[in-house]
Amino acid sequence: MCGIVGYTGVQGASPILLEGLKKLEYRGYDSAGIALVNEGVISIAKVTGRIANLCEKTNDGKDYPGTCGIGHTRWATHGAPSDNNAHPHLSNDGRFAIVHNGIIENYMSLHDELTAKGYHFESQTDTEVIVHLLEMYYKGDIKKAVIKTIARLQGSYALGVICTEHPDKLYVAREASPLILGVGVSENFFASDVTALVSYTRNAIYLEDGEFAEISPEEINVFDCTLKPIEKKITRIVWDIKASEKGGYEHFMLKEIMEQPRAFKATIAPRIKDNDIVLDETELTKEYLESVNKIVITACGSAYYAGCAAKYTIEKLCRVPVITELASELRYCDPLIDEHTLLIVLSQSGETADTIAAMKECKSKGAKTIAVVNVVGSTIATLADHALYTWAGPEIAVATTKGFTTQLAVLYLFALYAAKKLNNIDEERYLSLLSSLKSMPKKIQETLDTNSNIHKIAIKYYDNKSMFFIGRNTDYAIALEGALKMKEISYIHAESYAAGELKHGTIALIEEHRPVVALCCNESVMEKTVSNIVEVKARGADVLALTFKGNSKIVSVANDVIYVPKVETFFSAAVEIVPLQLLAYYVAKLNECDIDKPKNLAKSVTVE
Ligand code: AGP
Repeated sequence: MCGIVGYTGVQGASPILLEGLKKLEYRGYDSAGIALVNEGVISIAKVTGRIANLCEKTNDGKDYPGTCGIGHTRWATHGAPSDNNAHPHLSNDGRFAIVHNGIIENYMSLHDELTAKGYHFESQTDTEVIVHLLEMYYKGDIKKAVIKTIARLQGSYALGVICTEHPDKLYVAREASPLILGVGVSENFFASDVTALVSYTRNAIYLEDGEFAEISPEEINVFDCTLKPIEKKITRIVWDIKASEKGGYEHFMLKEIMEQPRAFKATIAPRIKDNDIVLDETELTKEYLESVNKIVITACGSAYYAGCAAKYTIEKLCRVPVITELASELRYCDPLIDEHTLLIVLSQSGETADTIAAMKECKSKGAKTIAVVNVVGSTIATLADHALYTWAGPEIAVATTKGFTTQLAVLYLFALYAAKKLNNIDEERYLSLLSSLKSMPKKIQETLDTNSNIHKIAIKYYDNKSMFFIGRNTDYAIALEGALKMKEISYIHAESYAAGELKHGTIALIEEHRPVVALCCNESVMEKTVSNIVEVKARGADVLALTFKGNSKIVSVANDVIYVPKVETFFSAAVEIVPLQLLAYYVAKLNECDIDKPKNLAKSVTVE
């Protein structure tokens, strides 16, 4: 989704803005632009397409001098991708330029009001109303003008403003859209995520909703909406710069798939001390857990599927009902939630708009909230009663991989932790499961090693318009995620079904050589899934089965078999997904798709 950057300091701003925008490319965008204040004038360069075009247009920034500026990558919502609709937007008097992430919901009425007052619009965006409001409210005090402007806005925004009359200052404001300030020496920055900042500074200030800041090269002052100063703490960014580079891999996605053993270990190891699981971050006491009568897991996309997979583990070990609900549905269904509900929210980015809204809805009904989040200081982490971080490091590819497996890691830890607190598990079983969990990083590594030639299987299956993924229980949850991986990066229609549902309609779609990926790792339903494989085979399907090593039952019924090491069924989702990520990767590669930045998708879905 859109990305924003800003710089004020002693260096030329353009190259820094362009570099920052490159770091934000992974979020997904269709046009980009920068604006600089120099010698009392704002100059703007905008392009449709890639940042490379913007670098070319600006001669790598050299043709756009100035030490203070703002930049933007746009993911079109209101108005098609075009140079006019790209940000920054300029006020009619040329005094202000702005960049904006988010959506202004009341832009139509503001547009009509401003048009009636004589303001001229250059774009079809919702954003442009902001810059004209600024011009309208500016009476010599820019802070007041910004405050009056944002008071008129409904919706979400992370806003960056420059002004010819304050040529070394940036003004920023935030409501429901991420905004981080980078603190340097004689220079300061802002960005929509830390990846754009870490090359320049590791000191960050996380703005919160309703906050507004004035940034000069020497200082950053934060205010509330009445211009009352707010003391903010500086947080150290711990992400490794190398982690946001490809490190020799052709794509971020492949690198991130390969990083999963390390990421899983980094997520569980610090929380296991002498055979005890320590979730200090949560204060989940025995008394509190006993008062919980249901656990609701909510998220979007892959994060939701991680919840679906872990539901089986949590429910079986804790004997508490676990309900999984898509955040985009939960937020509008007036859910039956109260103080006896524990809400677990999953989000890699921590900024997904629907997930934030669902969380707010459940919190307002009294639920205690735990957020499983990868991005430190993100909105979801901040809003939750307790944040349990997945220590996956920066995930750049739009398709999540290590974000997903580390979410499973946290949920597995939680399941064991809660089961023990609730006395639902005896010591021997607990220790045996804990030991299995500790061995998972090795098992994931073994899965990667075993499937190092999966590209050969991809060659057999890549040239297809449609595929099906089937399974039961956890296998079904992973079939959902496997199908999502396939469709989002290879653009092949991939549908997932609970294997038992085939006969209720879907089997009508099975025809000669239709690929069916059948997941068979769950022994309790193995025979049933094998029957479903036989049924689709009988109708001509080519079956690619995924099962654990040593399972000979599958060889005779499937056309091809992918193996994963045998692990404890409670945790098997974390190995099963790995070959499916690789399969999607190689299928997408053979189809020459833009793997890290699939069309129409954004890494962080910050609008509804
Ligand atoms: C996964 O590959 C996706 N691109 C997408 O489904 C993602 O998982 C979803 O948008 C949720 O994102 P979040 O984890 O950042 O909240």
